[in-house]
Amino acid sequence: MNRPQNISKKDFQLLQEKYSNLDDVINKINNGYPIQYLIGNVDFYGYLIKVNPNVLIPRFETEGLVEKTIDYIKKMDLCNASVLDIGTGSGCISIVLKKELPSLEVTAIDKSRLAIRTAKNNGKLNKVDINFISKDLFKFNLVNNYDVIISNPPYISPGDKVSDELKYEPYNAIYVLGNPLKYYEEIFKIGNKVLNEKYLIALEIDEDQGNNLKRLAKKYYSNAKIILDKDLAGKDRYLFIINE
Ligand SMILES: C[S@@+](CC[C@H](N)C(=O)[O-])C[C@H]1O[C@@H](n2cnc3c(N)ncnc32)[C@H](O)[C@@H]1O
Repeated sequence: MNRPQNISKKDFQLLQEKYSNLDDVINKINNGYPIQYLIGNVDFYGYLIKVNPNVLIPRFETEGLVEKTIDYIKKMDLCNASVLDIGTGSGCISIVLKKELPSLEVTAIDKSRLAIRTAKNNGKLNKVDINFISKDLFKFNLVNNYDVIISNPPYISPGDKVSDELKYEPYNAIYVLGNPLKYYEEIFKIGNKVLNEKYLIALEIDEDQGNNLKRLAKKYYSNAKIILDKDLAGKDRYLFIINE
């Protein structure tokens, strides 16, 4: 079979290695099914992360969140810090942090047991020791303290216009019902309970939510530095809350 135009040479080769009959596979891709689920893994920040329909496919923007967070952790001298990753999904954020800064102690939670199972497998695959826990953020009762909270929570409202591909990814990883900022507000409340005096909160956000979120963050962290940051496309995609 010849390679269809919409599939890269590398991806086509991976699919050929994995599937004996490519007709069904190509049909699925042409109907918008994510090629990453068919291949079964992605490269995230140079690390192999297995993906399946129980987890969100790690995005390019999230690599930006990780990169900027690593910079802040280094600048703030937090390389031995205790990190909490909320809504870990495939585990991609935690795994890169632990690979790049091995002295970090990383705990990662997700409400989805199936996501946590995938994250644990990815942890093993990448040979990192991370505490992956199945836990609902709205029923948070961990007693430890942390120096860094990082999260890419669900932030899309069901009515929002989104690309077709999203319909194959887990609904609960993407959509937020009711107040679109409710995950962030809960993270702010958790942060107020568990963060040590010197801290960093690193969040991925929707490009239209920046100013509203900044206002909300000020309500909970009136003395902290609150920084809205852009992705490579120049869109407001990250919020950092810093107390040094
Ligand atoms: C946007 S995905 C992010 C996944 C991964 N961190 C990433 O950046 O690719 C949001 C994650 O939050 C999880 N989640 C949704 N509601 C949650 C809740 N109430 N408590 C904990 N995790 C939740 C979803 O299962 C999903 O894995």
